[in-house]
Amino acid sequence: MTDIKELLLSRIRDVADYPEPGVMFKDITPLLADPAAFTALTDTLAELAVEHGATKIVGLEARGFILGAPVAVRAGVGFVPVRKAGKLPGATLSQAYDLEYGSAEIEVHAEDLTAADRVMVVDDVLATGGTAEASLRLIRRAGAQVAGVSVLMELGFLGGRARLAPALDGAPLKALLEV
Ligand code: PRP
Repeated sequence: MTDIKELLLSRIRDVADYPEPGVMFKDITPLLADPAAFTALTDTLAELAVEHGATKIVGLEARGFILGAPVAVRAGVGFVPVRKAGKLPGATLSQAYDLEYGSAEIEVHAEDLTAADRVMVVDDVLATGGTAEASLRLIRRAGAQVAGVSVLMELGFLGGRARLAPALDGAPLKALLEV
């Protein structure tokens, strides 16, 4: 494992039985509190965004905001929040998606993405892939291109990569860690 992967992994805390029994929660707050680790993470994600020609970073509420905003600044591109339904004041595009039990809905301000944009989605975790998949649908419905999806970690056993593949349509999915 490379030094940076070891550093990042060492700053992620496993919390058993959170938010419910049987779930091992991956807590990134120790990583955020460590300036060396947080800088290494955002620099790496920014390099990926530049490498793939991104003109905008989309961050997924809420932890995708914490990572995506400094990545956008570092990459020299704009930041666009994808929020849970009902939080954005302007004209929005909305996308519903299925959860294990029930459904959820995310939104983006329609005017923040245009046909001139190539968009990199940034988030902390790819789990089932439902949130990222819905965000790619929003990006395409806005007329923008998908530069890729970049996450700190992928929970490989949940199959998110396979779920996301059709929506990526050949664009890269990069996970810095598989846990
Ligand atoms: C988590 C995580 C991703 C999403 C991944 O966010 O930050 O956005 O779930 O899950 P999926 O791949 O199964 O869609 P959460 O909805 O818990 O929101 P939060 O960041 O506001 O806690």
